[in-house]
Parts: sequence; C-alpha cells; structure tokens
Amino acid sequence: MSEQSGTLADDPFIGRQPTSHERLSGLSWDASYHDGPAPWDIGQPQPAIVRLASEGGFAGAVLDAGCGTGENTLHVASLGLSVLGVDVAATALAIARAKADDRGIKVEFAAADAFQLECLGRRFETVLDCGLFHSFDGDERPGYVASLASVTEHDGTLYVLCFSDGVPDTGPHPITQEELRAAFNPSDGWNVAAVEPDRIHTRYHDDGAPAWFATIKRI
Ligand SMILES: C[S@@+](CC[C@H](N)C(=O)[O-])C[C@H]1O[C@@H](n2cnc3c(N)ncnc32)[C@H](O)[C@@H]1O
Repeated sequence: MSEQSGTLADDPFIGRQPTSHERLSGLSWDASYHDGPAPWDIGQPQPAIVRLASEGGFAGAVLDAGCGTGENTLHVASLGLSVLGVDVAATALAIARAKADDRGIKVEFAAADAFQLECLGRRFETVLDCGLFHSFDGDERPGYVASLASVTEHDGTLYVLCFSDGVPDTGPHPITQEELRAAFNPSDGWNVAAVEPDRIHTRYHDDGAPAWFATIKRI
C-alpha cells in the first residue's frame, strides 16, 4: 500500500487488519467516502429496510453494523428506537452525524471494527447488516459472525441484506443462500429463519440489484 491520502495509512484503526475489500482495492474503506457518494450511498434508506421497519421488524436496542453515512440507522432512529450505527470509516461517520444534527434525529454513531464488536460492551435485540457481510470473503466470515454473536441478545434478530448470486446484473460480491446458511449455523448459535429475494439499490443500478434479505435468529 502506498502512503498517499485515502490509503490504509489514513485508517483510524491502527493495527486493524485490512479487509479483503481493502486489500483488493488498495484503498481504505474511508477513502470510498472522500470524493462524493460511494456507489452504495443512495442518500436514502434502502426500501427493504423501510419496509421491514414499517412491519415492526426492529425492536429494543438496535445495532447497524457498517452503517456508512447512516441512512438506514437514521430511518430506524426516526421511528423512536434506540440505534447505534458503527463503521470504520471516520468520514462516513462524520457525514452521518451531520445528517442527524440537520434532521434533529436522536441517534448514536461510533467508530468500531465489526470484527471486534464485543469491545462496545453492549448487547442488542436487533442487528442490521446492510451490505457489510457480502463484502467479506469466506476466511473473514467466521470472525465477523462470532463478533456479531457476542453483541446479539439471545432470541434477538439479525437482518442481512446482501447481493445475491445466480442472476444477471447483480452486485460485486454475490452471496449464495448456502453461504448464508453455512455462515450462520446452529452450532455457532444462529438459526436462519428466512432468506427472501429482494433488491439492494445502488447508484449504478436503475432498479436495484438482486439481493437476499435474510432473517437470522440468535439462539
Ligand atoms: C457497502 S457499505 C454499506 C454501508 C451502509 N450499510 C449502507 O447501506 O449504505 C459497507 C460499510 O461497511 C463499513 N465497514 C467495512 N469493514 C468494516 C469493519 N471491519 N467494521 C466496521 N465497518 C466496516 C464500510 O466502511 C462501509 O461503510
């Protein structure tokens, strides 16, 4: 990695292992937010999350893992729930906090590594992963899933919205149903309750990209 601005040298988490996405791109996650909106940053909550919230899918303390500039976090918080959004990208968090101030929404944003969520010292009844799981490769998933388990209340619910496989025009990190079920399996304290086809909207898909919306219970 070079030392120029936007590389991993600028990452606030000294000693954090670069994720596979960062290794492949050669850029820190934070750099994605330096020159205007990132491809996934659509300036509004994902329709799937809005629908889920309207159906009462969020309860208790909520964690948004890899919250980016916070549109999903802010939407859930605007409904009166207690929500913490975490991310490694300081630039994204600064944008998220500015939006919360502008909109007068009470919400918390914090810098945290999704592989070390236990450092938060908190537990959550509902956890949201919108576009984070699918950015991790197979070697990274067990550590991330264990980290999620450490902060999800027993009988709590994890929602994962990720690009799906086997369909044209999907996103850059397609995930199979089998990969979801293998990552969140009963021997690691999870039960995949449902995996439904959905869409993830991006800045470069007209009507969103094919996605899986997984509802996963902590057992
Ligand atoms: C594809 S973006 C999705 C952002 C947001 N959830 C949304 O829907 O707009 C993935 C986000 O996860 C964050 N991220 C990546 N690795 C992370 C890690 N190890 N810990 C916390 N956040 C991470 C990135 O900085 C980025 O903001």
